[in-house]
Amino acid sequence: MKSILVTGGAGFIGTNFVYFMASKGYSLRVLDKLTYAGGKDNLEPLMAAGKVDFVVGDICDAGIVKKSLSGIDAVVHFAAESHNTRSETDPGLFYNTNVDGTRVMLEESFTAGVKKFIHISTDEVYGSIVDGYFAENDKKLGDSQATSAYSKSKSQADDLAIEFGRSYPVIVLRPTNNFGPWQYPEKALPRWITNILSGSKIPLWGEGLQVRDWLFAPITSQCIEFLLQKGEAGNAYNVAANHNPEITNRKAAEWICELLGVSSDEWIEFIPDPRPNHDFRYALNVDKISQLGFKPAVDPFNQFRDTVEWYKSNTAWWKKRKEEAESIYKQ
Ligand SMILES: NC(=O)c1ccc[n+]([C@@H]2O[C@H](COP(=O)([O-])OP(=O)(O)OC[C@H]3O[C@@H](n4cnc5c(N)ncnc54)[C@H](O)[C@@H]3O)[C@@H](O)[C@H]2O)c1
Repeated sequence: MKSILVTGGAGFIGTNFVYFMASKGYSLRVLDKLTYAGGKDNLEPLMAAGKVDFVVGDICDAGIVKKSLSGIDAVVHFAAESHNTRSETDPGLFYNTNVDGTRVMLEESFTAGVKKFIHISTDEVYGSIVDGYFAENDKKLGDSQATSAYSKSKSQADDLAIEFGRSYPVIVLRPTNNFGPWQYPEKALPRWITNILSGSKIPLWGEGLQVRDWLFAPITSQCIEFLLQKGEAGNAYNVAANHNPEITNRKAAEWICELLGVSSDEWIEFIPDPRPNHDFRYALNVDKISQLGFKPAVDPFNQFRDTVEWYKSNTAWWKKRKEEAESIYKQ
């Protein structure tokens, strides 16, 4: 498994993964369409050092996918439209990329004879849970548990990957919400950090009591490498931090204020929830991946600190993305 094709490698988790794998000496090719969420600039140092081969292209285009698969041992498939809020105004794009693009990737990969295919799914395929934790078998076929066009499209893509996994070496990974460097500032944590860095308050939806099980993207990268080596084909795995106590959005916003040295009373503004039906709590059971031997390092406050420091040190990176990211909340 030395030669890896990474789809969506110029996006947030993909970029973290490519840096992690490059540091381990893997041979890497990225296939990315470079949508608003993809940044070739993320990977320039690695490309300049000859550590990554970059192909600009669409995963829905079987011709470019076929060419990208030449000489590849394994595929890690991140490419997707990933933002819930955007999926409300353009669901067709989400179905094309996330469902049909995944179908093309699966079909072409096994025609080309790849030895392992890791499909990056999400905890959102299970929907929200009031108490307790979803285990892998709690995902039913179909998209009825998912609640947005984004999560429904990811649920159908997950089903496709599971279906291919009956005949081919496919592994499905369902991570919880990720955070860390290179996350586009439309998403909650980088939006809040960059708001404060540019003098605006954190707009906290509702009472801020929603629960997300924040997983640091470098840990997700370790998990994927672990599955490339030890994951059993035909299986789905959850991965989560399982924070104890759980981290509400309000707590996350307060930590960001603390790390940036501002008063949370003054810098958090509670606003009516613009997506009032959005999922309240995600929580995953991780027994299956733990038993296989993967246990994530859970140190949320320090991982939040590293993330805040990254945005403080990479002002040019987020400033050129901030205006576009904010524009979707003004529609
Ligand atoms: N961010 C999270 O918290 C999280 C949590 C669980 C699962 N996931 C999943 O992980 C994956 C990566 O998420 P992310 O947050 O890094 O997303 P992202 O939006 O930051 O990056 C997506 C990347 O895919 C590329 N892309 C989009 N459409 C494409 C197409 N048609 N062809 C080729 N490339 C295309 C974009 O240019 C971008 O580089 C997604 O599949 C997402 O569903 C994300």
